[in-house]
Amino acid sequence: MHKIHAAITAVHGYVPDYVLTNHELESLVDTNDEWITSRTGIKERRILKGEGLATSDLAVPAVNTLLQKRGIGAEEIDLIIFCTTTPDMPFPATANILADKIGAKNAWGYDLQAACSGFVFGLATGASFIESGRYKKVLVVGGDKMSSIIDYHDRATCIIFGDGCGAALLEPTAEEGYGIIDSVLKSDGSGREFLHMKAGGSLRPATHESVSAREHFAYQEGKTVFKFAVTNMADVAAEIMERNSLVADDIAWLVPHQANKRIIDATASRMGISDDKVVINIERYGNTTNGTIPLCLWEWESKFKKGDNIVLAAFGGGFTWGSMYIKWAY
Ligand code: UT7
Repeated sequence: MHKIHAAITAVHGYVPDYVLTNHELESLVDTNDEWITSRTGIKERRILKGEGLATSDLAVPAVNTLLQKRGIGAEEIDLIIFCTTTPDMPFPATANILADKIGAKNAWGYDLQAACSGFVFGLATGASFIESGRYKKVLVVGGDKMSSIIDYHDRATCIIFGDGCGAALLEPTAEEGYGIIDSVLKSDGSGREFLHMKAGGSLRPATHESVSAREHFAYQEGKTVFKFAVTNMADVAAEIMERNSLVADDIAWLVPHQANKRIIDATASRMGISDDKVVINIERYGNTTNGTIPLCLWEWESKFKKGDNIVLAAFGGGFTWGSMYIKWAY
């Protein structure tokens, strides 16, 4: 029987207008532009300001423009997978809220929580729904309003994260060898204590004490996470190359999660990929968690050519990590 392949057929992104610079952070915590730039590669990040605005509001403009570009209506979407660590509310799913806001009346959806690896996990899951023959248009959204869970008194985290969102449409392709070719996905829950939110879940529901102890913010032991990220992101990227008999020259673009420029450089170096093939926008947006990879795809879309071999690689809280091999289909 003819195998159905899933391909990305459109991408788009959105970042809010407000620019939080390293210099502004210097007025909030004991840090400086030189330290942030040299240790992370980040110069500025975007923040969603305004009452009543949530992660779904970052997704609406990204998805609406994506649909316009593809020339389809929201009612044609079958499934929405919303990859986020900052859902609008614990329930219902942000995918449902987004469906309502954009008029995706015929879609069902759910949220996917895999921290910074979420978008890669979401693409892999969405591709399976296409490959099964069950659905024809799956929207995978990756976005976070990280500013809603960042403690702007904590210099270990507030310098890194920002807000942003991107989306990709998956559709079946008749062309053999194009689209999502392979993925390697991993998780290890024993790493959960190094990057997590201490309270607000069923383990420690919100109390006056948990709020006073500032436990509703992202907590990270940066050095430990860094160590695991450098090793695992590079390992998984190397694994996907080996599995698919790819050498560095075969790869047109590496699209890595944007957590720290030093982690990106280590991954590229392990793969033998030169700087000009590495997609990097961390200096402008920081770490938008689920948003980093789709924002990169959006900003580099015009440079991608049909047939380009693209490798995605991510590492995040959980721990979770993964890589994906895509042959760009348009
Ligand atoms: O996206 C999900 C996965 N997340 C990641 O991949 C993030 C991984 N971790 C990192 O990117 C890095 O660990 C950080 C950027 C978070 C921190 O960089 P680091 O090089 O690991 O710094 P460190 O925590 O080892 O701190 C080095 C020094 C310390 O001072 P002493 O003890 O050497 O005197 C810190 O107190 O830098 C100090 N420091 C700062 N100084 C200025 C820590 N944060 C800051 C800061 N500004 N914001």
